[in-house]
Amino acid sequence: MDIAVHDLDQAQAQAELARLAKVLGDANASYHTLDAPDISDAEYDALKRRNAAIEARFPDLKRADSPSDQVGGAIGAGFGKVAHRLRMLSLENAFAESDVSDFDDRVKRFLNISEVSYTAEPKIDGLSLNLRYEDGHLVQAATRGDGEVGEDVTENARTISDIPQTLRAAPPLLEVRGEVYMSHADFADLNARQMARGERVFANPRNAAAGSLRQLDAAITAARPLRFFAYAWGVVSQPLGSTQIASIEAFKLMGFQVNPLTILCQTTADMVAQYRKIEAMRATLGYDIDGVVYKVNDLSLQERLGFRSTTPRWAIAHKFPAELAWTRLLAIDIQVGRTGALSPVARLQPVTVGGVVVANATLHNEDYIAGRDSKGALIRAGKDIRLGDWVQVYRAGDVIPKVADVDLSQRNSAAQPFDFPVICPECGSPAHREPGDSVRRCSGGLICPAQGVERLKHFVARGAFDIEGLGAKQVEMFFADPDLPVKQPADIFTLAQRDADNPFKKLKNRDGFGEKSAANLFAAIEARRTIPLDRLIFSLAIRHVGEVAAGVIARHYGTWPEFEAAVTSAEPGNAAWADLLSADGVGEVLAQSLTEAFHNPAERAAIDALAAQLTILPVQVRATVASDIAGKTLVFTGSLEKMTRAEAKARAEALGAKVAGSVSAKTDLVIAGPGAGSKAKEAERLGVALIDEDAWIALAGLA
Ligand code: IVH
Repeated sequence: MDIAVHDLDQAQAQAELARLAKVLGDANASYHTLDAPDISDAEYDALKRRNAAIEARFPDLKRADSPSDQVGGAIGAGFGKVAHRLRMLSLENAFAESDVSDFDDRVKRFLNISEVSYTAEPKIDGLSLNLRYEDGHLVQAATRGDGEVGEDVTENARTISDIPQTLRAAPPLLEVRGEVYMSHADFADLNARQMARGERVFANPRNAAAGSLRQLDAAITAARPLRFFAYAWGVVSQPLGSTQIASIEAFKLMGFQVNPLTILCQTTADMVAQYRKIEAMRATLGYDIDGVVYKVNDLSLQERLGFRSTTPRWAIAHKFPAELAWTRLLAIDIQVGRTGALSPVARLQPVTVGGVVVANATLHNEDYIAGRDSKGALIRAGKDIRLGDWVQVYRAGDVIPKVADVDLSQRNSAAQPFDFPVICPECGSPAHREPGDSVRRCSGGLICPAQGVERLKHFVARGAFDIEGLGAKQVEMFFADPDLPVKQPADIFTLAQRDADNPFKKLKNRDGFGEKSAANLFAAIEARRTIPLDRLIFSLAIRHVGEVAAGVIARHYGTWPEFEAAVTSAEPGNAAWADLLSADGVGEVLAQSLTEAFHNPAERAAIDALAAQLTILPVQVRATVASDIAGKTLVFTGSLEKMTRAEAKARAEALGAKVAGSVSAKTDLVIAGPGAGSKAKEAERLGVALIDEDAWIALAGLA
């Protein structure tokens, strides 16, 4: 029997880390080379989590060959999993020209400089891929996945002729990132072949590319012509150049395809001109693009700008306007979401918008249907939307289709304004609107089955518990199941035991399940019994607590006991409340919603029941550079002269530190520039270390 992680002493932890490195290393080897896994997927995951938990408790004992840093396959489930050494990010979007100049302003303000040049290049509508080259040889290809962990599609990528197997003049380690896509001509051929063979046709080239790359049989991928443009990189053992444009040029020399419409721009006017030029060529390019990406050209400036949680500050995607289509509105259904919001959904006569058939679209809320916004201002010049109307729908990228406009000339004279329900259609509780809020919400809370089911769906979704084999469909099934009900998150973790205790109606004997799939489901649930704090907080489905906020809160408190105690005692005015608000980005509204959830007896009981089932990992501070300030809490005060406040804060966070707005007993270090006032005094009073800007620059490794 394994010793629980919190009971291990230093020596036991060290021995256990050595053992885990060996077991996981062997499992990886047998998986990759022999294709004969000797431990199950769930066991592998559990060992990896145990390893991470021990490392989180004893960071100094982390091994150079730690399995946490190793790219390794989760076993069995189709493709192996690959932990990206550097996260694969997404891009912030710009739609209007003013968004582009705002971006440029933000960059310059952050850096406090007046001239910045940018690259402009097409945004390819495919799927991104990370290619790892060691000594010039392709050793691994992985999809983006959730940005942290992707799928190992190496064998499939080897069949793509734009992806070189070996590189000319490459650094010892190089990760090339770019887009896999299918040309219009190849897409049409593929669909014609599929149709002739009576197989499924793809809705658009992007789906076709994704479906072709994610084939378990690489021979199928090989038979489908995929292409690849290189446009970015992950880990590199030495820089490819000092600018973005030089790095792209280096890719070209190594043998990659790079997009020929990539140019360097000195001003936002140049950028927008390139956008217009590419937009005009869009129909004749021969492949799908959905916008133009601008990137800060100077890589040292990119480094200074750094990242927000999922997007770089140094790039933006200027999207093309969404595609539009007109169709008839057949019905308006009201869906009740996890926070009780009543959301109107338009049921449409199916219509093709940008290559995808659309039959449902969001109508946002009752004000939107009525033709006004939450402040009473008119939208669509005040035209309301009625059943039977001709409406204009649009799609922008992957987002849910929306209804934009209505054609009054086609309206039936008998059509009546839509009567938005004031009671919840799912549970009959009154649905209220708070002043200033456009959304009407069911007041039923946990008694409303729709809220219960939606919360569970959120609970098992990506970014939250992400339990394999337990998606929206299965959640609905278990929610309604009289024998094996799952009404709240904690029930998921008692499912296996309840199934074992129940001699009749075993899961394996039910429709849609068998011996293996039932066992797999229980194993997948078991694998998530150990969960990092930030994911747990996000999964609780508390209003205003999204993934980013959950991360901030988790880093602020570090551990579940600290978090739970603080939120339980926090009330407006007391110290715990002030401390919660000092976390970066936590405002009154979020604090209110978080504390309400913990103070509500029913919600609290559900949270406690869940926590009792779990091992909750403390958050690991993700420093991007080795640093002396990881885990420390800093406060900046006074004016900084060598970098902006925004840059200082971003730098500190990149080094794993927390930045707080006010000095307290928990502050480790105050950086005081000229004009520092009360905060510096408070630091002196509390005996908190105080340094000036030059000392900070040295500490941040920028001197
Ligand atoms: S740069 C750090 N450049 O767009 C930024 N991305 O919305 C990394 N994409 O996940 C991305 N063309 O799949 C970049 N020329 C281009 C791109 C591009 C397409 C995709 C990529 C990314 C997504 C973000």
